[in-house]
Amino acid sequence: PAQYEEWAAEVRRLADERGAVVLAHNYQVPEIQDVAHHTGDSLYLSRVAAQTDAREIVFCGVHFMAETAKILSPDKTVLLPDLDAGCSLADSITAEQLREWKSEHPGAVVVSYVNTTAAVKAETDICCTSSNAADVVRSIPADREILFCPDQFLGAHVKRVTGRDNIRIWAGECHVHAGISPSDVRTQVAAHPDAEILVHPECGCTTSVLDLVSNGDLPADRTRVLSTGGMAEAAAATTAKQVLVATEIGILHQLRNLNSTTEFLPMNSRAACRYMKMITPAKLLRTLQTGSGAIEVPADIAARARKAVEAMIAIGD
Ligand code: 13P
Ligand code: SF4
Repeated sequence: PAQYEEWAAEVRRLADERGAVVLAHNYQVPEIQDVAHHTGDSLYLSRVAAQTDAREIVFCGVHFMAETAKILSPDKTVLLPDLDAGCSLADSITAEQLREWKSEHPGAVVVSYVNTTAAVKAETDICCTSSNAADVVRSIPADREILFCPDQFLGAHVKRVTGRDNIRIWAGECHVHAGISPSDVRTQVAAHPDAEILVHPECGCTTSVLDLVSNGDLPADRTRVLSTGGMAEAAAATTAKQVLVATEIGILHQLRNLNSTTEFLPMNSRAACRYMKMITPAKLLRTLQTGSGAIEVPADIAARARKAVEAMIAIGD
């Protein structure tokens, strides 16, 4: 702890000196979640990035998140403590693939998850995150066909909750969330039958969890599909003894900080994102010392991508 205090004080001092705001995603390591000025889900962090008065944004998360911050605040410096912190979901569709898909469905509206590259966002009409995907889809006139990419599990979830049938879904996935399987749910629910259940819609188990709810095998009032920010709100409010959490395990730190009387358990304890964990305390400190890791997005791509991200932010969550 003394070592942590020293590191944290130095991070805050350097951030002040640089005029930087430090943002951290809910999947970051605990030290980084705790030292950041703002910790939250991807929609919340993109809103903070769009509105901040700070000169510089140090983004503790993965590349597409820092890129989204840069797209929204092009005049600010955005630093990512490790530029190799990618995302397997963002890698599951390229701009070239999306252009080809669009050419097969002229007139369709393209909805892309923010977990995409700037080049994919530039080919997109409106972005979404896990907390507003259904609202974004509902904002599109019912007679317009939708191309939804890249996450198949979020796409299937949105299709289910909106009842929309003219929606085509790309077959991408996040390797971490796809790995949280229906059998993990069966095992954990059997071991903790009274627990509340929180599921991120990127999970491979989302559809089967909702099927279990429809069949009456899981209680509807104790089972929810939420973004990481939604999970944090639910955790702060719950009085349950135990909560099973189906998402990347970094969130558990945030949930335990918010509520020390409930026990938060992972649905799958191996669900860790190696990209999120590439941002270490030492790399954060070095970034603040050197100013390295600046994100650059070509101006023409940034301008087109910005329209898609701003259209999303205008919708609310
Ligand atoms: P949210 O924080 O928006 O729920 O996103 C989850 C995610 O997988 C980001 O990598
Ligand atoms: Fe990407 Fe999945 Fe990691 Fe989120 S958890 S950054 S979607 S690989």
